[in-house]
Amino acid sequence: MTARLVARRAGPLKGTLRAPGDKSISHRALILGALAHGVTEVEGLLEGEDVKRTAQAMAAFGAEVERLGEGHWRVRGLGAFREPADVVDCGNAGTGVRLIMGAAAGFHLSATFTGDASLRGRPMNRVLKPLGEMGATWLCREGGRLPLTLHGGNLKRICYVLPEPSAQVKSAVLLAGLQADGGAEVIEPEATRDHTERMLRAFGAQVDVFEEGGGRRIVLAGGQALAGTAVRVPGDPSSAAFPLVAALITPGSEVTVQGMLLNPLRIGLLDTLGDMGADLSVTNVRDEGGETVADVTARHSALTAVEVPPERAPSMIDEYPILAVAAAFAEGPTRMLGIGEMRVKESDRIALMAAGLAACGVGVEEGPDSLTVIGSVRGNHAVAGGARVTTHGDHRIAMSHLILGLAAEAPVAVDEPGMIATSFPGFLGLMRALGGEIDEG
Ligand code: S3P
Repeated sequence: MTARLVARRAGPLKGTLRAPGDKSISHRALILGALAHGVTEVEGLLEGEDVKRTAQAMAAFGAEVERLGEGHWRVRGLGAFREPADVVDCGNAGTGVRLIMGAAAGFHLSATFTGDASLRGRPMNRVLKPLGEMGATWLCREGGRLPLTLHGGNLKRICYVLPEPSAQVKSAVLLAGLQADGGAEVIEPEATRDHTERMLRAFGAQVDVFEEGGGRRIVLAGGQALAGTAVRVPGDPSSAAFPLVAALITPGSEVTVQGMLLNPLRIGLLDTLGDMGADLSVTNVRDEGGETVADVTARHSALTAVEVPPERAPSMIDEYPILAVAAAFAEGPTRMLGIGEMRVKESDRIALMAAGLAACGVGVEEGPDSLTVIGSVRGNHAVAGGARVTTHGDHRIAMSHLILGLAAEAPVAVDEPGMIATSFPGFLGLMRALGGEIDEG
């Protein structure tokens, strides 16, 4: 892969594409398939680097994992995890490692986890705390960092109140709870993506969910066996966001993304863009494998700045980088509040978006848990661009700045573009097919 990609302004973006498979659901399909008895067939699996690491990890824990065709995978689970013979390397994937640690903690085994430099810098304490209360033990680097060796088995029931809104932590506790004496209960003060709960049910587990205030209480009985099933993975709204925002900010554009997941806990970005005056239409709404999907069309729009309330953060946490790009092309200051979790993603995304946008001539104000982007009032071609952006290997930082480059006055270059394949391996080809000019350089 090239060392840099450069995006430049060209004609309008036009066309239709299928969103790649949802990353969150793809990880879960492989992990639950490996925990289950019997065969799970997955269609539409995201074949990004993160998910491929999880597939390898599930084979290391004893499942038979086979690729039958594009996005079509078969997992034959043993109903339990076996001790891996070697270190499990989860690459760049926070979701992969945290969910697998939860699942593995339920069994009498020791497993050592590592990842790339970004993942080795991310906090694992948030999952280790509840897993420790359940009875797991571990040895790790300072601050709960990887590499880490986890010793599982003999878990007891937990009732855990999530200190931060994290679907990864919730999922790790629920997966551990499957093997715990008495199961597990998780209370989330703010609702987060519920793919684990939905998929556990599809695999035959009983999961009770109670709405409480703005949040949820999730109760799972222990000692439940999962049965392999068929999983159809819908299109990832977090990936669809890039071509959709590209169309909104590039004059004359109209782009349709087919088969996009519309889970209400994942589409805060659509609400926010709607508030900004985006011309978005949702058609062909249908049910696919227990999730709602639809085709979403975006047309170039005059956007107006908004204040994005903190309570919307869980439903669009991975979309703030691309929202910040849309905000650069809006009129007025867009304030994104209560987004501190962005600082512990694949990179510190508040800092990197603020730096990248500033380098492209956009006014920004960075707070400890907020970001304000001051959109230009001079129309849609007022973003200067002309910068080389440092991505720290973060796929969403890279894609966001390339989209900005498609509508800015001067080209925008990003480093480490190979990392885009962690979540959106077809990004470059799809954007070029829509008419985007993104080249190696
Ligand atoms: C994910 C949850 C979110 C999100 C991540 C995927 C998941 O992370 O940012 O990309 O699949 O559960 P947190 O749980 O840290 O909020």
